[in-house]
Amino acid sequence: MTTVSLSNSNPATTHRTINFSAGPAVLPESVIRQAQEDLWSIRGSGIGICEHSHRGPVFDAVIDEAVADCRRIGSISDDHEVLFIQGGASTQFGMIPMNFLAEDAVADYPDTGVWTNKAIKEAKIFGRVNVAFEGAKCGYDHTPSAAELSLSPDAAYLHYCSNNTIYGTRYEQPPQTSAPLVCDASSEMFARPIDVARHAMIYAGAQKNLGPSGVVLVLIRKDFMAKRVRKTMSMMDYAAHAKNGSRLNTPPTFGIYMMGLVFKWILEQGGLEAIERHNEAKAKVIYDAIDGSGGFYRGVSRPECRSRMNISFRLPSEDLDQRFVTEAAAEGMDGLKGHRDAGGIRASIYNAFPKSGCETLASFMSEFASRNG
Ligand SMILES: Cc1ncc(COP(=O)(O)O)c(C=O)c1O
Repeated sequence: MTTVSLSNSNPATTHRTINFSAGPAVLPESVIRQAQEDLWSIRGSGIGICEHSHRGPVFDAVIDEAVADCRRIGSISDDHEVLFIQGGASTQFGMIPMNFLAEDAVADYPDTGVWTNKAIKEAKIFGRVNVAFEGAKCGYDHTPSAAELSLSPDAAYLHYCSNNTIYGTRYEQPPQTSAPLVCDASSEMFARPIDVARHAMIYAGAQKNLGPSGVVLVLIRKDFMAKRVRKTMSMMDYAAHAKNGSRLNTPPTFGIYMMGLVFKWILEQGGLEAIERHNEAKAKVIYDAIDGSGGFYRGVSRPECRSRMNISFRLPSEDLDQRFVTEAAAEGMDGLKGHRDAGGIRASIYNAFPKSGCETLASFMSEFASRNG
């Protein structure tokens, strides 16, 4: 079985399966090693991170540092709150319209895949939805150009998904609109520079680029947060989370702690520009293998919208797709089966995924194509 050492690893002791999982997904090895220690005793306290009170001084420091590091990474000013909320990104699908979409109001939702579709379904419970782009009509093979978007003149907000995890498409730039911009960045948070100031809200489930599942990072502009259109229970109220420093109740302390470690790792890598350069180089290795295969591999996304995080492609038949996944697994590559809605193959290569893993996949792709083409 072929295995790969992650960056910062000690090759003598660390060999891991090449993990292409779409999420939960690969984490930086230095983060995992630190967590191993801190589970036993964090910061010399004699108490593990999961055993500390969420209102004690050790966790105070953990969450304060996580917020400060997050602000540094994204150049996030005090205009935005940095919140940690439970319930996964799917809870945000409902919480956003619950707070910001009145019954007689409309919000714009370009539909670019399974996740925006779910967000649309939840929004319809609370108000009117203008599906500003119907991606299903083109098999979700691209994100809309400005000309393809049909926006409503008075939208309460525009919700979009910057990277579509399943189909492997992304927006080069956020959609142009005069409405407050709300972004689901779950599968590419902090994978490239992001203009936080331009967004009313950005949210991301942690389990792809930021940490373990169970916690969502929410960046929300204070003036947008103040526009709540209906009363909600406290746990669904962004302002209540903000007022209580993300500790309205017992928060997912381990998830917040892990996100804090990942933030420090991002800063150590040189911040978002450096991370983006690395991600570009990694994705190019696999896209080159697709483009150089003489049509054996066909990318799901149109070239101009290609995701750098999730690379979805198909082989000439479903039978070959299946054989590819099975043989790749035998070579130590896990998680390559495409999502059930898109089929084919999907290679998820988030921030912490090593370039050497992309190279291993690319050489397997070329060898498999020459055997089966
Ligand atoms: C873009 C995107 N949004 C939302 C979700 C849903 O996340 P969760 O499972 O945390 O609710 C996912 C999960 O893969 C996703 O990829």
